[in-house]
Amino acid sequence: MSQAPARILVVNGPNLNLLGTREPEVYGTRSLADLESDLRRRAAELGCEIEFAQSNSESEIIDLIQAARERVLAVILNPGALAHYSYAIADAIRSTALPVFEVHLSNIFAREEFRQRSVVAPAAVAVITGAGFIGYELALEAALRLAR
Ligand code: DQA
Repeated sequence: MSQAPARILVVNGPNLNLLGTREPEVYGTRSLADLESDLRRRAAELGCEIEFAQSNSESEIIDLIQAARERVLAVILNPGALAHYSYAIADAIRSTALPVFEVHLSNIFAREEFRQRSVVAPAAVAVITGAGFIGYELALEAALRLAR
């Protein structure tokens, strides 16, 4: 019996819709659409399916995580600045018990003090920070190997 391909939800939080033009010295010059096509290519190679979402709203991100329960194998989440203060997103992750892989494009530990703490991280399986777009591909591989 053939199994349905694993499905992974990728969620990008506030201001990541502006990738490519937003502080390019920090986040690079490639766009969110570029990230999506890189990930779709990698997902096809790995034999999984991805859903790709972006929201500037904390409540929408919580709704996305809740709705993903029992539908996806894992979530790759870049919470943007919400990483630093959204206990509600951390609670949503714990409430759904979904394996979440947190990604940051920049190395949050090398930046301003307020960015050096993620309140979401304790609810995540793993955190990849500072590897740019590659971080999402690493998270995809980790999600497939650890969550399967
Ligand atoms: C970010 C880091 C956050 O501190 C910042 O607010 C972002 C992007 C990153 O991907 O490096 O929006 O999550």
